[in-house]
Amino acid sequence: MRWSILPLLLLCVSGKKLISFLLAINYSSAVNGFVYSCNEVKQSILKKTTISASNACVALGDYSVLAGFVQDIFVQDGTGKNQWNLIEVHEAGGCVNSTVDSWRIVTNRTDGGEGIGCDEEFTLLFSSIQSTIVTARDNGRAHYSNTAGNITVVVSRGGILLEFTCNNTLQKLDFYTGLGNGEEEEMFYLGSAQCDDQLSLWALDTAITVSIPDDGYIRMINTGTGGYLSMGYYEFDMIVMGSGKSNNLIQHGDNDKFLWLDADDRVSFAIDGFYEMDQKVGNNIVLTAATDCERDPCTTKSVPLNSSSVHMTMVADLLSFDYYTKVGNADYWRDDDAFFFRIISSPLTTESPTTIPPVKGDTDYSCGCDLTNGIASFSSDLWLDVIFLVDVSKSMDSVNLNKASSLIQSITNSMNIQNDGTPSDSNSTSIKYSRVGIIAVSDSAQIIADLSSPFPNSINFNPSNSPEANIGNGIDTSIDMFSRASNRTSRQLIYIITASDSSSTSFKIKFTQASALQSSPGDSFKNSGGIIAVTDVSPSKVPSLVDLSSPGYYNLGFRNNINLDLQMICDANCFCPQYQTGFSDDSDERETPSRGCYISQPITATFSLAMDYCSSSGSLLSTVHDDQKEYFLIGVISQFGAKTPFWIGYENNGKDWEWIDNSNSTYTKWASGQPNIGSCAYEIQTTGFNSAWYSDNCSNEHNFICEKSPCSVSNFCN
Ligand SMILES: *[C@@H]1O[C@H](CO)[C@@H](O)[C@H](O)[C@H]1NC(C)=O
Ligand SMILES: *[C@@H]1O[C@H](CO)[C@@H](O)[C@H](O)[C@H]1NC(C)=O
Ligand SMILES: *[C@@H]1O[C@H](CO)[C@@H](O)[C@H](O)[C@H]1NC(C)=O
Ligand SMILES: *[C@@H]1O[C@H](CO)[C@@H](O)[C@H](O)[C@H]1NC(C)=O
Ligand SMILES: *[C@@H]1O[C@H](CO)[C@@H](O)[C@H](O)[C@H]1NC(C)=O
Ligand SMILES: *[C@@H]1O[C@H](CO)[C@@H](O)[C@H](O)[C@H]1NC(C)=O
Ligand SMILES: *[C@@H]1O[C@H](CO)[C@@H](O)[C@H](O)[C@H]1NC(C)=O
Ligand SMILES: *[C@@H]1O[C@H](CO)[C@@H](O)[C@H](O)[C@H]1NC(C)=O
Ligand SMILES: *[C@@H]1O[C@H](CO)[C@@H](O)[C@H](O)[C@H]1NC(C)=O
Repeated sequence: MRWSILPLLLLCVSGKKLISFLLAINYSSAVNGFVYSCNEVKQSILKKTTISASNACVALGDYSVLAGFVQDIFVQDGTGKNQWNLIEVHEAGGCVNSTVDSWRIVTNRTDGGEGIGCDEEFTLLFSSIQSTIVTARDNGRAHYSNTAGNITVVVSRGGILLEFTCNNTLQKLDFYTGLGNGEEEEMFYLGSAQCDDQLSLWALDTAITVSIPDDGYIRMINTGTGGYLSMGYYEFDMIVMGSGKSNNLIQHGDNDKFLWLDADDRVSFAIDGFYEMDQKVGNNIVLTAATDCERDPCTTKSVPLNSSSVHMTMVADLLSFDYYTKVGNADYWRDDDAFFFRIISSPLTTESPTTIPPVKGDTDYSCGCDLTNGIASFSSDLWLDVIFLVDVSKSMDSVNLNKASSLIQSITNSMNIQNDGTPSDSNSTSIKYSRVGIIAVSDSAQIIADLSSPFPNSINFNPSNSPEANIGNGIDTSIDMFSRASNRTSRQLIYIITASDSSSTSFKIKFTQASALQSSPGDSFKNSGGIIAVTDVSPSKVPSLVDLSSPGYYNLGFRNNINLDLQMICDANCFCPQYQTGFSDDSDERETPSRGCYISQPITATFSLAMDYCSSSGSLLSTVHDDQKEYFLIGVISQFGAKTPFWIGYENNGKDWEWIDNSNSTYTKWASGQPNIGSCAYEIQTTGFNSAWYSDNCSNEHNFICEKSPCSVSNFCN
């Protein structure tokens, strides 16, 4: 099955209030439900298909009532005795039902259905679940419901806007595409929303079912549109576009805009989603960003969406999604097309509150972990989750166990600890806090302090007689402890204190994971962004422990300087969020992104739009002041192919070339004969790791990379 769970956080604006809810596209129990366009109805008549469902419903379009063929199309129930034409279904309240769970669509036309032109659209719905059908046709028509049950809103062509007001703000509304949920056609559970004040949801070319709970009362304003949807930025800050899983996406005409978001003035659109189109029949969604539309013609930039997951930002006045298709008769039955997008627009900001703008002449983004005068003055700004995993087997004698507890005590005294629900300092309002857990491990693991419980005032370890330290079990217990604590975006660190060697000949560090398995729990923890540090009090290195530790996080013995341990924890606290690539100094064994985090956009733009794109996310168009950075950027851009040219933040002010970060750097990499025409500069890979710069007209378009500070003690990210 192609679909995987796609969790998306939706943000809806209601007044100035932000409401969030989780949206997941997800199969659950199989409930039949089918949503047919006029063309599909025609195909069903010709192919004489049987549809299993108990209810048949219709949503007529504005003019389909007038189309002659609508009264010639009948739904016939499984007994073959009862049939209703579409006008009769409509007049019966939208739905009719069958005692036998099957239907056929038939016609009394003399041409047997062959000549149905589908010049007017309508939607025929079949479902094994009862639903009230509401046709979204008239602008702003309100629908009130104070009874529990399902309401399906459908427009026979174009889009639907649903806006909700609930009386009971604790009420939970469930959203589905289609008429239920299941594995057939457009049936997906979209998600649940706590109904608080007002929610807005846009859906296109699909039916949306809202399940209203027992205590429910909602007022729902639905708007259906024929050709395109237009959204003013001031009205909405969140859009959900979904086809669920549809086989009837059709571009209805050359001027049909699928969705048109009018932002009025430049805003930053963040687009996240999932996309799958049947390339064989040429289906395609093209996203077009238009800028400076007060001028005629405006600048436009189009991106065909053809990869399965979409994460991008576009700065524009107008954003449109156009659906192009070359559908032949046979293709009406395909169900390959599905997409789901979340779009949030926000005004352009030049500076994000969580980002430190680069200082003059310096785009190196320090992690803030330097020991000034040998003192770790950053320690109270640490904001990560740490679990100390302490070996209490025979090989750790009581002297070492005492050292371990005083090390942990010293480290934790320096940190601002706020285990779940319990700040250690009740006056603390800092967003930067750490959570700390402790696990003792011998032949099994024992929890001494849990991330989810108050941190103890004193720490004592009881030595065990066991010759074995089951580190693998300790790691499993740590991972479990992390997952039980409430979620946050911070780094996770497992700090192991052990004695790998012993006078006891039977001593062994035990990893529970069978070596035949490809990846140990430690490996998956590290692969998902966690750090493992090891302090081994024995004088020799045990290869398995070296391998277990993250690069640069292996130490032999206790160090006498607590500040060095705090610095190590601070380095672990320095990281780049998902979808960003970290840049470290070659000499940095721990690979901390002390030279920033980099995001490449899969789109090209003019120089000034590229700068806007970057600044709208609190970052800066990349600059280059040394060879190391030059190589690094080539590596980052190469995901869009070798030799992809990309803008660098270097421009001519009419007299001199200037770095946009105000650096005085004299480093250049001009190709011979460069710079010549144009006032902006791009870089391109030449051979191997070599590259060169060219000057260019700033209104030409190239790819680009944005850079920003890493998440660290001096830069809190959430
Ligand atoms: C069939 O429809 C009638 C009238 O709308 C309704 O009263 C009845 O409950 C329905 N039966 C089933 C099995 O859905
Ligand atoms: C089909 O039947 C309907 C009544 O249900 C009638 O109004 C219509 O004229 C008939 N069409 C043809 C082509 O006989
Ligand atoms: C919900 O609110 C509306 C408007 O404020 C009110 O008319 C209605 O009686 C309320 N319904 C319930 C069930 O509380
Ligand atoms: C509404 O639809 C959901 C999802 O298919 C289903 O679980 C629920 O039973 C339906 N509610 C009613 C009242 O039919
Ligand atoms: C996406 O479309 C572009 C332009 O049509 C094409 O060059 C690229 O290969 C496509 N990528 C995929 C993954 O299909
Ligand atoms: C860059 O040059 C300006 C003016 O010459 C000077 O004031 C500034 O200190 C220099 N900055 C650096 C980082 O060298
Ligand atoms: C919390 O604030 C109160 C009043 O300002 C002060 O007396 C107390 O010492 C503070 N507690 C800590 C742990 O800082
Ligand atoms: C944390 O998030 C993950 C992934 O979204 C989820 O599986 C897990 O249940 C969450 N844990 C808690 C305690 O909320
Ligand atoms: C840059 O390109 C624009 C648009 O093609 C053109 O109008 C302009 O004259 C060019 N500028 C230079 C300096 O070539």
